[in-house]
Amino acid sequence: MTAQTQTHQSTLIAPGAGVAAPQGRPVPAEFVLGVATAAYQIEGARHEDGRSDSIWDTFSHTPGAVVDGDTGDVACEHYHRYAADVGLMKSLGIQSYRFSTSWGRICPDGGPVNAKGLDFYERLVDSLIDAGIAPWLTLYHWDLPQALEDRGGWTSRETVDRFVEYAGAVHDRLGDRVSTWTTLNEPFCAAFLGYTAGMHAPGRTSPADGLAAAHHLMLAHGRAVQELRARDSALELGLTLNFTVADPLDPSDLRDVDAARRVDAQMNRVFLDPIFRGAYPADLLEDVRHLGLEDRIMDGDLEVISTPIDVLGVNYYNGEAIGHTRPASALADNLNGGRLTRSPFPAADESFRHPRGLPVTAMDWEIQPEGLTRLLVRLHEDYTGPAGVTLHVTENGAAFDDVADEDGFVEDGDRTAYVRAHIGAILDAVDAGVPVRGYFYWSLLDNFEWAWGYAKRFGIVRVDYDTQVRTPKASALDLARTIATRHLLPPVAPVPLVGTSGTDTLTEPVGDTQA
Ligand code: FCB
Repeated sequence: MTAQTQTHQSTLIAPGAGVAAPQGRPVPAEFVLGVATAAYQIEGARHEDGRSDSIWDTFSHTPGAVVDGDTGDVACEHYHRYAADVGLMKSLGIQSYRFSTSWGRICPDGGPVNAKGLDFYERLVDSLIDAGIAPWLTLYHWDLPQALEDRGGWTSRETVDRFVEYAGAVHDRLGDRVSTWTTLNEPFCAAFLGYTAGMHAPGRTSPADGLAAAHHLMLAHGRAVQELRARDSALELGLTLNFTVADPLDPSDLRDVDAARRVDAQMNRVFLDPIFRGAYPADLLEDVRHLGLEDRIMDGDLEVISTPIDVLGVNYYNGEAIGHTRPASALADNLNGGRLTRSPFPAADESFRHPRGLPVTAMDWEIQPEGLTRLLVRLHEDYTGPAGVTLHVTENGAAFDDVADEDGFVEDGDRTAYVRAHIGAILDAVDAGVPVRGYFYWSLLDNFEWAWGYAKRFGIVRVDYDTQVRTPKASALDLARTIATRHLLPPVAPVPLVGTSGTDTLTEPVGDTQA
Protein backbone atom coordinates (compact mmCIF):
# COMPACT_ATOMS: atom_id res chain seq x y z
CA MET A 1 0.00 0.00 0.00
CA THR A 2 1.45 3.34 -1.00
CA ALA A 3 1.05 6.73 0.61
CA GLN A 4 -1.17 7.59 -2.35
CA THR A 5 -3.64 4.90 -1.44
CA GLN A 6 -6.07 5.68 1.30
CA THR A 7 -7.80 2.85 3.10
CA HIS A 8 -10.09 2.33 6.00
CA GLN A 9 -7.64 -0.27 7.19
CA SER A 10 -9.34 -1.24 10.39
CA THR A 11 -12.37 -2.57 8.56
CA LEU A 12 -10.19 -4.80 6.41
CA ILE A 13 -9.64 -7.10 9.33
CA ALA A 14 -12.00 -10.04 9.39
CA PRO A 15 -14.54 -9.27 12.08
CA GLY A 16 -14.51 -11.64 15.00
CA ALA A 17 -11.46 -13.55 13.76
CA GLY A 18 -10.63 -16.03 16.49
CA VAL A 19 -13.61 -14.93 18.54
CA ALA A 20 -16.80 -16.23 16.98
CA ALA A 21 -17.74 -18.39 14.03
CA PRO A 22 -18.18 -16.34 10.85
CA GLN A 23 -21.74 -15.43 9.92
CA GLY A 24 -23.33 -16.07 6.56
CA ARG A 25 -23.29 -18.62 3.78
CA PRO A 26 -20.10 -20.66 3.44
CA VAL A 27 -18.12 -20.04 0.24
CA PRO A 28 -16.41 -23.26 -0.91
CA ALA A 29 -12.70 -23.20 -0.09
CA GLU A 30 -11.65 -23.75 -3.70
CA PHE A 31 -13.98 -21.03 -5.12
CA VAL A 32 -11.76 -18.19 -6.35
CA LEU A 33 -12.69 -14.58 -5.65
CA GLY A 34 -11.00 -12.04 -7.89
CA VAL A 35 -11.31 -8.78 -9.76
CA ALA A 36 -11.05 -7.83 -13.43
CA THR A 37 -9.77 -4.92 -15.54
CA ALA A 38 -8.80 -4.31 -19.18
CA ALA A 39 -5.74 -2.65 -20.68
CA TYR A 40 -7.30 0.30 -22.48
CA GLN A 41 -9.59 1.11 -19.57
CA ILE A 42 -6.83 1.57 -16.98
CA GLU A 43 -3.31 1.74 -18.41
CA GLY A 44 -2.98 5.18 -20.03
CA ALA A 45 0.61 5.73 -21.30
CA ARG A 46 -0.75 6.00 -24.81
CA HIS A 47 2.48 6.33 -26.73
CA GLU A 48 5.03 5.24 -24.16
CA ASP A 49 7.65 2.60 -24.82
CA GLY A 50 6.56 2.07 -28.39
CA ARG A 51 2.82 1.48 -28.02
CA SER A 52 0.84 2.17 -31.19
CA ASP A 53 -2.74 3.37 -31.41
CA SER A 54 -5.64 0.98 -31.22
CA ILE A 55 -9.12 1.44 -32.63
CA TRP A 56 -10.13 2.79 -29.21
CA ASP A 57 -7.54 5.58 -29.40
CA THR A 58 -8.94 6.60 -32.75
CA PHE A 59 -12.56 6.23 -31.67
CA SER A 60 -12.21 8.06 -28.38
CA HIS A 61 -10.53 10.96 -30.17
CA THR A 62 -13.43 11.17 -32.62
CA PRO A 63 -15.70 14.08 -31.64
CA GLY A 64 -19.01 12.87 -30.26
CA ALA A 65 -18.00 9.22 -29.89
CA VAL A 66 -17.42 9.23 -26.12
CA VAL A 67 -19.25 11.18 -23.42
CA ASP A 68 -17.44 14.42 -22.55
CA GLY A 69 -14.77 13.63 -25.16
CA ASP A 70 -13.01 11.38 -22.64
CA THR A 71 -10.14 9.19 -23.85
CA GLY A 72 -7.92 6.47 -22.40
CA ASP A 73 -4.75 8.56 -22.92
CA VAL A 74 -4.16 8.75 -19.16
CA ALA A 75 -6.94 6.62 -17.63
CA CYS A 76 -5.85 5.30 -14.22
CA GLU A 77 -2.13 5.55 -15.03
CA HIS A 78 -1.93 1.88 -14.21
CA TYR A 79 1.06 1.52 -16.55
CA HIS A 80 3.06 3.44 -13.96
CA ARG A 81 1.08 2.57 -10.85
CA TYR A 82 0.70 -1.18 -11.37
CA ALA A 83 2.90 -2.05 -8.37
CA ALA A 84 0.74 0.00 -5.99
CA ASP A 85 -2.40 -1.45 -7.58
CA VAL A 86 -1.12 -4.97 -7.00
CA GLY A 87 -0.31 -3.98 -3.41
CA LEU A 88 -3.85 -2.73 -3.01
CA MET A 89 -5.25 -6.03 -4.27
CA LYS A 90 -3.02 -7.90 -1.88
CA SER A 91 -4.28 -5.80 1.03
CA LEU A 92 -7.85 -6.77 0.08
CA GLY A 93 -6.95 -10.46 -0.12
CA ILE A 94 -7.83 -10.69 -3.83
CA GLN A 95 -7.05 -14.22 -5.02
CA SER A 96 -6.88 -13.76 -8.78
CA TYR A 97 -6.53 -10.80 -11.14
CA ARG A 98 -8.01 -10.91 -14.62
CA PHE A 99 -6.30 -8.36 -16.87
CA SER A 100 -5.77 -7.93 -20.59
CA THR A 101 -2.64 -7.32 -22.61
CA SER A 102 -2.57 -4.50 -25.12
CA TRP A 103 -1.92 -5.83 -28.62
CA GLY A 104 -0.50 -2.50 -29.83
CA ARG A 105 1.90 -2.30 -26.89
CA ILE A 106 3.29 -5.75 -27.66
CA CYS A 107 3.02 -5.74 -31.46
CA PRO A 108 2.84 -2.06 -32.50
CA ASP A 109 0.64 -1.64 -35.57
CA GLY A 110 0.04 -5.39 -35.40
CA GLY A 111 3.58 -6.03 -36.60
CA PRO A 112 6.86 -7.24 -35.04
CA VAL A 113 7.30 -7.64 -31.29
CA ASN A 114 8.17 -4.68 -29.09
CA ALA A 115 10.17 -6.04 -26.15
CA LYS A 116 9.38 -3.02 -23.98
CA GLY A 117 5.68 -3.78 -24.21
CA LEU A 118 6.27 -7.32 -23.00
CA ASP A 119 8.55 -5.98 -20.25
CA PHE A 120 5.57 -4.18 -18.72
CA TYR A 121 3.41 -7.31 -18.54
CA GLU A 122 6.33 -9.31 -17.20
CA ARG A 123 6.72 -6.79 -14.37
CA LEU A 124 2.99 -6.92 -13.71
CA VAL A 125 2.82 -10.71 -13.68
CA ASP A 126 5.89 -11.03 -11.48
CA SER A 127 4.47 -8.62 -8.93
CA LEU A 128 1.16 -10.51 -8.92
CA ILE A 129 2.93 -13.78 -8.30
CA ASP A 130 5.02 -12.18 -5.54
CA ALA A 131 1.78 -10.98 -3.96
CA GLY A 132 0.24 -14.46 -4.10
CA ILE A 133 -2.36 -13.37 -6.69
CA ALA A 134 -3.02 -15.73 -9.61
CA PRO A 135 -2.74 -13.94 -12.99
CA TRP A 136 -5.56 -14.56 -15.49
CA LEU A 137 -4.54 -13.22 -18.88
CA THR A 138 -6.91 -12.11 -21.65
CA LEU A 139 -5.29 -11.48 -25.03
CA TYR A 140 -8.00 -9.34 -26.58
CA HIS A 141 -10.22 -6.88 -24.77
CA TRP A 142 -11.22 -4.85 -27.84
CA ASP A 143 -8.04 -2.87 -28.56
CA LEU A 144 -7.28 -3.89 -32.15
CA PRO A 145 -4.25 -2.03 -33.55
CA GLN A 146 -5.57 0.78 -35.76
CA ALA A 147 -3.15 -0.24 -38.52
CA LEU A 148 -4.98 -3.59 -38.78
CA GLU A 149 -8.37 -1.87 -38.83
CA ASP A 150 -7.05 0.21 -41.72
CA ARG A 151 -6.56 -3.08 -43.60
CA GLY A 152 -10.11 -4.28 -42.86
CA GLY A 153 -9.97 -5.04 -39.16
CA TRP A 154 -11.99 -8.02 -38.01
CA THR A 155 -13.83 -8.17 -41.34
CA SER A 156 -10.53 -9.34 -42.86
CA ARG A 157 -9.17 -12.89 -42.41
CA GLU A 158 -5.65 -11.47 -42.33
CA THR A 159 -6.34 -10.15 -38.83
CA VAL A 160 -6.66 -13.76 -37.66
CA ASP A 161 -3.06 -14.51 -38.67
CA ARG A 162 -1.77 -11.38 -36.92
CA PHE A 163 -3.65 -12.36 -33.75
CA VAL A 164 -2.06 -15.81 -33.65
CA GLU A 165 1.41 -14.24 -34.02
CA TYR A 166 0.62 -11.84 -31.18
CA ALA A 167 -0.66 -14.68 -28.96
CA GLY A 168 2.58 -16.57 -29.57
CA ALA A 169 4.67 -13.51 -28.70
CA VAL A 170 2.89 -13.10 -25.36
CA HIS A 171 3.28 -16.78 -24.64
CA ASP A 172 7.01 -16.68 -25.50
CA ARG A 173 7.50 -14.25 -22.64
CA LEU A 174 4.86 -15.24 -20.08
CA GLY A 175 4.10 -18.86 -20.81
CA ASP A 176 6.25 -20.06 -17.93
CA ARG A 177 4.28 -18.13 -15.31
CA VAL A 178 0.71 -17.63 -16.50
CA SER A 179 -1.36 -20.81 -16.53
CA THR A 180 -4.83 -19.45 -17.42
CA TRP A 181 -5.16 -17.83 -20.82
CA THR A 182 -8.33 -16.54 -22.41
CA THR A 183 -8.26 -15.46 -26.01
CA LEU A 184 -11.15 -13.00 -26.34
CA ASN A 185 -13.28 -10.89 -24.08
CA GLU A 186 -16.87 -10.57 -25.27
CA PRO A 187 -16.65 -11.07 -29.04
CA PHE A 188 -20.31 -9.97 -29.11
CA CYS A 189 -19.29 -6.44 -28.18
CA ALA A 190 -16.19 -6.43 -30.37
CA ALA A 191 -18.19 -7.57 -33.40
CA PHE A 192 -21.69 -6.22 -32.98
CA LEU A 193 -21.24 -3.09 -30.86
CA GLY A 194 -18.17 -2.20 -32.89
CA TYR A 195 -19.10 -3.15 -36.45
CA THR A 196 -22.92 -3.20 -36.42
CA ALA A 197 -24.21 -0.80 -33.78
CA GLY A 198 -21.49 1.84 -34.16
CA MET A 199 -21.52 2.29 -30.38
CA HIS A 200 -17.97 1.05 -29.88
CA ALA A 201 -14.77 1.24 -31.90
CA PRO A 202 -14.34 1.12 -34.83
CA GLY A 203 -17.83 2.62 -35.06
CA ARG A 204 -19.13 0.85 -38.15
CA THR A 205 -22.89 0.33 -38.60
CA SER A 206 -23.13 -2.70 -40.87
CA PRO A 207 -24.99 -5.93 -39.96
CA ALA A 208 -22.92 -7.84 -42.55
CA ASP A 209 -19.64 -6.50 -41.16
CA GLY A 210 -20.66 -7.47 -37.63
CA LEU A 211 -21.30 -11.05 -38.70
CA ALA A 212 -18.01 -11.22 -40.62
CA ALA A 213 -16.19 -9.82 -37.58
CA ALA A 214 -17.86 -12.34 -35.27
CA HIS A 215 -16.78 -15.23 -37.51
CA HIS A 216 -13.19 -14.02 -37.76
CA LEU A 217 -12.98 -13.34 -34.01
CA MET A 218 -14.02 -16.92 -33.33
CA LEU A 219 -11.55 -18.17 -35.90
CA ALA A 220 -8.81 -16.14 -34.18
CA HIS A 221 -9.88 -17.70 -30.87
CA GLY A 222 -9.71 -21.24 -32.24
CA ARG A 223 -6.37 -20.70 -33.99
CA ALA A 224 -4.86 -19.13 -30.87
CA VAL A 225 -6.07 -22.02 -28.70
CA GLN A 226 -4.42 -24.45 -31.12
CA GLU A 227 -1.20 -22.43 -31.06
CA LEU A 228 -1.06 -22.22 -27.27
CA ARG A 229 -2.09 -25.85 -26.78
CA ALA A 230 0.67 -26.99 -29.13
CA ARG A 231 3.20 -25.03 -27.09
CA ASP A 232 2.02 -26.30 -23.70
CA SER A 233 -0.71 -28.89 -23.23
CA ALA A 234 -0.99 -28.05 -19.51
CA LEU A 235 -2.32 -24.53 -20.02
CA GLU A 236 -5.89 -23.77 -18.99
CA LEU A 237 -7.41 -22.21 -22.12
CA GLY A 238 -10.70 -20.62 -23.04
CA LEU A 239 -12.55 -17.41 -23.80
CA THR A 240 -15.04 -15.09 -22.18
CA LEU A 241 -18.51 -14.51 -23.62
CA ASN A 242 -21.12 -12.04 -22.43
CA PHE A 243 -24.62 -13.36 -22.15
CA THR A 244 -28.15 -12.21 -21.79
CA VAL A 245 -31.10 -14.19 -20.48
CA ALA A 246 -33.79 -13.34 -23.03
CA ASP A 247 -37.22 -14.06 -21.59
CA PRO A 248 -40.27 -13.58 -23.81
CA LEU A 249 -42.36 -10.73 -22.42
CA ASP A 250 -45.47 -12.88 -22.76
CA PRO A 251 -44.51 -16.55 -23.00
CA SER A 252 -47.94 -17.37 -24.41
CA ASP A 253 -47.51 -14.93 -27.33
CA LEU A 254 -45.59 -16.66 -30.12
CA ARG A 255 -44.48 -13.28 -31.52
CA ASP A 256 -42.74 -12.45 -28.21
CA VAL A 257 -41.27 -15.94 -28.09
CA ASP A 258 -39.81 -15.41 -31.56
CA ALA A 259 -38.49 -11.93 -30.68
CA ALA A 260 -36.68 -13.41 -27.65
CA ARG A 261 -35.39 -16.33 -29.73
CA ARG A 262 -33.69 -13.93 -32.12
CA VAL A 263 -31.93 -12.10 -29.30
CA ASP A 264 -30.80 -15.38 -27.76
CA ALA A 265 -29.53 -16.55 -31.16
CA GLN A 266 -27.72 -13.33 -32.06
CA MET A 267 -26.10 -12.74 -28.69
CA ASN A 268 -25.66 -16.16 -27.04
CA ARG A 269 -25.94 -19.04 -29.48
CA VAL A 270 -24.08 -17.30 -32.33
CA PHE A 271 -20.92 -17.95 -30.29
CA LEU A 272 -21.86 -20.95 -28.14
CA ASP A 273 -22.91 -23.24 -30.96
CA PRO A 274 -19.84 -22.84 -33.19
CA ILE A 275 -17.52 -23.15 -30.19
CA PHE A 276 -19.19 -26.10 -28.46
CA ARG A 277 -21.01 -27.81 -31.34
CA GLY A 278 -18.97 -26.87 -34.40
CA ALA A 279 -21.98 -25.39 -36.25
CA TYR A 280 -23.95 -22.17 -36.42
CA PRO A 281 -27.55 -22.54 -35.19
CA ALA A 282 -29.91 -23.29 -38.08
CA ASP A 283 -32.41 -20.61 -37.04
CA LEU A 284 -29.65 -17.97 -36.94
CA LEU A 285 -28.43 -18.91 -40.41
CA GLU A 286 -32.01 -18.58 -41.65
CA ASP A 287 -32.47 -15.14 -40.04
CA VAL A 288 -29.21 -13.73 -41.43
CA ARG A 289 -29.24 -15.50 -44.80
CA HIS A 290 -29.30 -12.15 -46.65
CA LEU A 291 -26.18 -10.86 -44.82
CA GLY A 292 -23.44 -12.99 -46.34
CA LEU A 293 -22.22 -14.86 -43.25
CA GLU A 294 -22.07 -18.18 -45.08
CA ASP A 295 -19.81 -16.66 -47.74
CA ARG A 296 -17.26 -16.01 -45.00
CA ILE A 297 -17.18 -19.60 -43.72
CA MET A 298 -14.33 -21.52 -45.36
CA ASP A 299 -13.77 -25.26 -45.25
CA GLY A 300 -12.39 -26.28 -41.87
CA ASP A 301 -13.29 -23.03 -40.08
CA LEU A 302 -15.84 -24.62 -37.77
CA GLU A 303 -13.41 -27.40 -36.82
CA VAL A 304 -10.92 -24.72 -35.80
CA ILE A 305 -13.52 -22.68 -33.93
CA SER A 306 -14.66 -25.75 -31.99
CA THR A 307 -11.15 -26.68 -30.85
CA PRO A 308 -11.66 -27.99 -27.29
CA ILE A 309 -11.25 -25.51 -24.45
CA ASP A 310 -10.94 -25.96 -20.69
CA VAL A 311 -12.75 -22.97 -19.24
CA LEU A 312 -15.60 -20.71 -20.30
CA GLY A 313 -15.61 -17.21 -18.85
CA VAL A 314 -19.14 -15.94 -18.26
CA ASN A 315 -19.82 -12.22 -18.16
CA TYR A 316 -23.26 -11.42 -16.80
CA TYR A 317 -24.79 -8.09 -15.93
CA ASN A 318 -28.51 -8.67 -16.52
CA GLY A 319 -31.15 -10.48 -18.53
CA GLU A 320 -34.10 -8.89 -20.26
CA ALA A 321 -37.77 -9.28 -21.17
CA ILE A 322 -38.16 -9.22 -24.95
CA GLY A 323 -41.36 -8.39 -26.76
CA HIS A 324 -42.29 -7.84 -30.40
CA THR A 325 -43.74 -4.39 -29.76
CA ARG A 326 -42.05 -1.18 -28.76
CA PRO A 327 -42.42 -0.48 -25.01
CA ALA A 328 -44.19 2.61 -23.69
CA SER A 329 -41.13 3.55 -21.65
CA ALA A 330 -37.68 2.29 -22.45
CA LEU A 331 -34.52 1.20 -20.73
CA ALA A 332 -31.55 3.01 -22.19
CA ASP A 333 -28.93 0.74 -23.72
CA ASN A 334 -26.44 3.14 -22.22
CA LEU A 335 -23.63 1.62 -24.17
CA ASN A 336 -23.20 4.59 -26.42
CA GLY A 337 -23.48 7.59 -24.18
CA GLY A 338 -26.59 8.70 -26.02
CA ARG A 339 -25.20 8.70 -29.58
CA LEU A 340 -27.79 7.68 -32.11
CA THR A 341 -26.72 4.37 -33.59
CA ARG A 342 -28.44 1.22 -34.79
CA SER A 343 -29.28 -1.98 -32.96
CA PRO A 344 -26.31 -4.33 -32.43
CA PHE A 345 -28.42 -7.27 -33.61
CA PRO A 346 -28.01 -7.89 -37.32
CA ALA A 347 -31.51 -9.30 -37.78
CA ALA A 348 -33.77 -8.57 -34.80
CA ASP A 349 -35.49 -5.37 -35.84
CA GLU A 350 -38.78 -6.44 -34.24
CA SER A 351 -37.24 -7.38 -30.86
CA PHE A 352 -37.65 -4.80 -28.10
CA ARG A 353 -36.51 -4.77 -24.50
CA HIS A 354 -39.26 -4.07 -21.98
CA PRO A 355 -38.68 -2.77 -18.44
CA ARG A 356 -39.91 -5.15 -15.75
CA GLY A 357 -40.05 -2.81 -12.78
CA LEU A 358 -36.82 -4.26 -11.40
CA PRO A 359 -34.29 -2.03 -9.67
CA VAL A 360 -31.64 -0.70 -12.04
CA THR A 361 -28.02 0.44 -11.84
CA ALA A 362 -26.69 3.79 -13.06
CA MET A 363 -26.37 2.18 -16.51
CA ASP A 364 -30.14 1.54 -16.44
CA TRP A 365 -29.30 -2.16 -16.38
CA GLU A 366 -31.91 -4.17 -14.47
CA ILE A 367 -30.64 -5.97 -11.39
CA GLN A 368 -31.56 -9.62 -11.85
CA PRO A 369 -29.33 -12.04 -9.94
CA GLU A 370 -31.60 -15.04 -10.45
CA GLY A 371 -30.94 -14.73 -14.17
CA LEU A 372 -27.31 -15.62 -13.46
CA THR A 373 -28.31 -18.86 -11.75
CA ARG A 374 -30.52 -19.82 -14.69
CA LEU A 375 -27.79 -18.88 -17.18
CA LEU A 376 -25.14 -21.00 -15.46
CA VAL A 377 -27.45 -24.01 -15.23
CA ARG A 378 -28.36 -23.68 -18.92
CA LEU A 379 -24.74 -23.32 -20.03
CA HIS A 380 -23.74 -26.38 -18.03
CA GLU A 381 -26.61 -28.52 -19.27
CA ASP A 382 -26.55 -27.50 -22.93
CA TYR A 383 -22.90 -26.68 -23.66
CA THR A 384 -20.12 -26.83 -21.11
CA GLY A 385 -21.15 -29.91 -19.13
CA PRO A 386 -21.12 -32.30 -22.10
CA ALA A 387 -17.75 -30.80 -23.16
CA GLY A 388 -16.23 -31.20 -19.68
CA VAL A 389 -15.59 -27.45 -19.48
CA THR A 390 -15.66 -25.55 -16.19
CA LEU A 391 -17.13 -22.10 -15.69
CA HIS A 392 -15.88 -18.90 -14.10
CA VAL A 393 -17.93 -15.74 -13.84
CA THR A 394 -15.26 -13.48 -15.30
CA GLU A 395 -17.27 -10.25 -15.04
CA ASN A 396 -20.19 -9.00 -13.00
CA GLY A 397 -20.55 -5.59 -11.46
CA ALA A 398 -22.49 -2.37 -11.20
CA ALA A 399 -22.08 1.34 -11.79
CA PHE A 400 -23.83 3.52 -9.26
CA ASP A 401 -23.78 7.27 -8.74
CA ASP A 402 -21.14 7.13 -6.03
CA VAL A 403 -20.82 9.96 -3.52
CA ALA A 404 -17.40 10.25 -1.91
CA ASP A 405 -16.89 11.79 1.53
CA GLU A 406 -14.10 14.27 2.21
CA ASP A 407 -11.63 11.38 2.55
CA GLY A 408 -12.69 9.97 -0.80
CA PHE A 409 -14.51 7.08 0.86
CA VAL A 410 -17.71 5.79 -0.77
CA GLU A 411 -20.32 4.07 1.37
CA ASP A 412 -21.71 2.03 -1.52
CA GLY A 413 -24.27 -0.21 0.12
CA ASP A 414 -25.97 -0.56 -3.27
CA ARG A 415 -22.86 -2.12 -4.83
CA THR A 416 -22.21 -4.29 -1.78
CA ALA A 417 -25.73 -5.68 -1.99
CA TYR A 418 -25.31 -6.24 -5.74
CA VAL A 419 -22.10 -8.23 -5.28
CA ARG A 420 -23.48 -10.33 -2.46
CA ALA A 421 -26.65 -11.10 -4.42
CA HIS A 422 -24.70 -12.23 -7.49
CA ILE A 423 -22.18 -14.35 -5.61
CA GLY A 424 -25.17 -15.90 -3.88
CA ALA A 425 -26.78 -16.59 -7.26
CA ILE A 426 -23.57 -18.37 -8.35
CA LEU A 427 -23.51 -20.45 -5.18
CA ASP A 428 -27.11 -21.46 -5.96
CA ALA A 429 -25.86 -22.79 -9.30
CA VAL A 430 -22.94 -24.55 -7.58
CA ASP A 431 -25.43 -26.16 -5.20
CA ALA A 432 -27.38 -27.33 -8.26
CA GLY A 433 -24.25 -29.13 -9.49
CA VAL A 434 -22.78 -26.57 -11.91
CA PRO A 435 -18.96 -26.47 -11.76
CA VAL A 436 -18.48 -22.70 -11.34
CA ARG A 437 -14.97 -22.22 -10.03
CA GLY A 438 -14.80 -18.50 -9.35
CA TYR A 439 -16.07 -14.93 -9.50
CA PHE A 440 -14.33 -11.79 -10.77
CA TYR A 441 -15.87 -8.47 -9.86
CA TRP A 442 -15.87 -5.86 -12.64
CA SER A 443 -13.90 -3.79 -11.82
CA LEU A 444 -11.05 -3.32 -9.39
CA LEU A 445 -10.86 0.39 -10.22
CA ASP A 446 -13.19 3.06 -11.50
CA ASN A 447 -12.00 3.37 -15.09
CA PHE A 448 -12.65 4.40 -18.70
CA GLU A 449 -16.08 2.89 -19.32
CA TRP A 450 -15.84 2.85 -23.13
CA ALA A 451 -18.39 5.16 -24.77
CA TRP A 452 -19.32 6.45 -21.30
CA GLY A 453 -15.80 7.63 -20.59
CA TYR A 454 -15.27 8.35 -16.91
CA ALA A 455 -18.94 9.17 -16.30
CA LYS A 456 -19.78 5.69 -14.99
CA ARG A 457 -17.97 4.19 -12.04
CA PHE A 458 -17.87 0.39 -11.68
CA GLY A 459 -14.91 0.10 -9.30
CA ILE A 460 -14.80 -1.30 -5.80
CA VAL A 461 -11.92 1.14 -5.50
CA ARG A 462 -12.59 4.82 -6.15
CA VAL A 463 -10.16 6.64 -8.41
CA ASP A 464 -9.82 10.40 -8.04
CA TYR A 465 -8.94 11.24 -11.64
CA ASP A 466 -7.33 14.55 -10.65
CA THR A 467 -4.87 13.05 -8.18
CA GLN A 468 -4.95 9.33 -9.14
CA VAL A 469 -5.50 8.51 -5.44
CA ARG A 470 -7.19 5.15 -4.98
CA THR A 471 -9.64 4.66 -2.11
CA PRO A 472 -11.31 1.30 -1.46
CA LYS A 473 -15.08 1.70 -1.22
CA ALA A 474 -17.24 -0.07 1.35
CA SER A 475 -17.89 -2.75 -1.30
CA ALA A 476 -14.14 -3.50 -1.48
CA LEU A 477 -14.00 -3.91 2.27
CA ASP A 478 -17.02 -6.19 2.14
CA LEU A 479 -15.44 -8.35 -0.58
CA ALA A 480 -12.27 -8.48 1.50
CA ARG A 481 -14.36 -9.64 4.46
CA THR A 482 -16.02 -12.34 2.34
CA ILE A 483 -12.60 -13.58 1.20
CA ALA A 484 -11.10 -13.48 4.68
CA THR A 485 -14.00 -15.28 6.36
CA ARG A 486 -15.02 -17.46 3.37
CA HIS A 487 -18.58 -16.57 4.28
CA LEU A 488 -21.06 -14.49 2.27
CA LEU A 489 -23.47 -12.19 4.08
CA PRO A 490 -26.98 -11.72 2.65
CA PRO A 491 -27.66 -8.64 0.51
CA VAL A 492 -28.65 -5.79 2.78
CA ALA A 493 -32.30 -4.87 2.41
CA PRO A 494 -33.60 -2.47 1.40
CA VAL A 495 -30.99 -1.96 -1.30
CA PRO A 496 -30.37 1.74 -1.91
CA LEU A 497 -31.04 2.18 -5.59
CA VAL A 498 -30.67 4.92 -8.12
CA GLY A 499 -33.91 4.14 -9.89
CA THR A 500 -36.36 1.50 -10.95
CA SER A 501 -36.81 0.24 -14.47
CA GLY A 502 -39.98 1.45 -16.08
CA THR A 503 -40.33 4.61 -14.03
CA ASP A 504 -38.29 6.88 -16.26
CA THR A 505 -39.04 7.72 -19.83
CA LEU A 506 -35.68 8.06 -21.48
CA THR A 507 -34.85 9.37 -24.89
CA GLU A 508 -35.81 6.69 -27.33
CA PRO A 509 -33.70 6.50 -30.44
CA VAL A 510 -34.12 3.18 -32.18
CA GLY A 511 -30.89 1.77 -30.76
CA ASP A 512 -32.04 2.50 -27.25
CA THR A 513 -35.34 0.69 -27.31
CA GLN A 514 -34.33 -2.30 -29.30
CA ALA A 515 -32.98 -5.14 -27.29
C1 FCB B 1 -18.22 -5.37 -20.20
C2 FCB B 1 -16.80 -5.11 -20.61
C3 FCB B 1 -15.98 -4.37 -19.58
C4 FCB B 1 -16.79 -3.29 -18.90
C5 FCB B 1 -18.10 -3.84 -18.40
C6 FCB B 1 -18.95 -2.84 -17.66
O1 FCB B 1 -19.02 -5.53 -21.32
O2 FCB B 1 -16.14 -6.33 -20.89
O3 FCB B 1 -14.84 -3.87 -20.21
O4 FCB B 1 -16.97 -2.22 -19.74
O5 FCB B 1 -18.84 -4.35 -19.47
